[in-house]
Amino acid sequence: MKHLINTKDFDLKTIENILDKAKLFKHEGASNLLQDKLIITIFFENSTRTRSSFEVAAKRLGANVVSLDVSKSSSSKGETLFDTAANLDAMEPNAIVVRHKNAGVPKILSNYVNCPIVNGGDGSHAHPTQALLDLFTIKEHFGELKDKKIAIVGDIKNSRVANSNIELLSRFGLEVIMVAPPHFMPQTTHFRQTHEIKEVIDEVDIIMSLRTQTERHSNQIYASLKDYATDFCITKKLVEDRDILLLHPGPVHRNIDIDDEMLSDPRCKVLEQVKNGVFTRMAVLNHLISGVNDQS
Ligand code: NCD
Repeated sequence: MKHLINTKDFDLKTIENILDKAKLFKHEGASNLLQDKLIITIFFENSTRTRSSFEVAAKRLGANVVSLDVSKSSSSKGETLFDTAANLDAMEPNAIVVRHKNAGVPKILSNYVNCPIVNGGDGSHAHPTQALLDLFTIKEHFGELKDKKIAIVGDIKNSRVANSNIELLSRFGLEVIMVAPPHFMPQTTHFRQTHEIKEVIDEVDIIMSLRTQTERHSNQIYASLKDYATDFCITKKLVEDRDILLLHPGPVHRNIDIDDEMLSDPRCKVLEQVKNGVFTRMAVLNHLISGVNDQS
């Protein structure tokens, strides 16, 4: 049984096939590849776009979608996660998409069900489909990925988006530079790190700005988001006319992560990422459920 818990679950060839399939869906539309299949989404943590993106993706492939409303589900009545999973599994879905505030939950659930589990984000561990859609967006823009440099800027330490992107993008030959204040910098030595965005602005091809993960801080470890913005907000004044692709997984803290001017600049691909997310998730669901993307 194939699952997508983190980006390492897919080898390079599989990812290339998935991206090719996503491109095909984007340019040639979709057929009812998943007709009569049942996909359950269960989000124990809030989601602005990931959940709807998965649901739109499933519906575009002709699948039936059931979204569990967690606030109304039995979890809030004390049912354990595993009993919830076993009950969902008894309905014989073809895939379950799960998001949870605790890292590791999708992996554990995958041991209790008979269908693919897709991780829609678990704690600060992983968000594999976000990284895949980011890779799709970068590839669509540049074509060739090797030796491209990306600055990942912000709360890297607490970001599952950063974690998944660092693994995936470096595997595809991109050079990752981490830009963050000391309290948001992970304790890793594998990648170049700096506290000054200005230090790398002339050499990067891509900037990925991240939201400050306030919900994952046990106490406030910075003076204020405004102070943070002074040094790390991606502004027009900083970027000037440089040829840089600007990404953000959303939700954006306006004028903290990216300023209004850059958000409406054509180099900023936030909404393109959202659009590409649907095609990428279509390709992922299709791969996990029918495994046919390799033949096309
Ligand atoms: C991210 C998430 O929830 O992990 N958003 C998303 O899925 N598009 C990033 C975030 O919450 O900052």
